[in-house]
Amino acid sequence: MKNVTVIQHPLVQDRLTQLRDKSTDIGTFRKAMGDLGYLLFYEAARQLPTENVAIETPMAPLSAPRLRSQVVLVAVLRAGLGFLDGVLANVPIARVGYLGLKRDLKTLDAISYYKNLPEISAEDTVFVLDPMLATGHTAIAALKEIEAAGAKSMHLISLLASPQGLETVLREFPNLHVTTASIDPVLNDKGYIIPGLGDAGDRLYGTLGH
Ligand code: URA
Repeated sequence: MKNVTVIQHPLVQDRLTQLRDKSTDIGTFRKAMGDLGYLLFYEAARQLPTENVAIETPMAPLSAPRLRSQVVLVAVLRAGLGFLDGVLANVPIARVGYLGLKRDLKTLDAISYYKNLPEISAEDTVFVLDPMLATGHTAIAALKEIEAAGAKSMHLISLLASPQGLETVLREFPNLHVTTASIDPVLNDKGYIIPGLGDAGDRLYGTLGH
């Protein structure tokens, strides 16, 4: 699928299997999610533009590459928080925003309950951390907010995506790039990805059944 990169790296697939396994304890789940934030962002960041700058090493002058655009991260609550520290390990100077979006359990539409975005300019590259791309409604709501805040270059990092979710999001945002660890085949009528990993936020925060 155009604009979608599925990361087959063994470390990514190993951590994903830990997340999928229902017997994985909460500590291992959190650690694997953070690792995946690091690894998926590392792969997604291949597309960041660089520019050469003149520096001096202790031994000689050198023209060497550095990142050209500034990076903004937007974590979609709650599950996106599981990625955040891992991603920040790659880009400690990134600005960070938060969007609280939950699903209406009947219509599966996204309901916004919190927004705190940093300043975003057209030159920045914005990475949206939204681990479960299921119906695509949450991702679209997040991307619209971020676009309205001034973003031109947006990248979505997800753990798992459904084919329907990808199609819906890319129809609305054809220039978006999506990096994911897997495209799972089924989206059930409750909006869950199958085989998936269950509710990512509940498993991350130990709130299953509440
Ligand atoms: N959100 C989740 O946490 N899991 C799914 O399977 C779909 C959406």
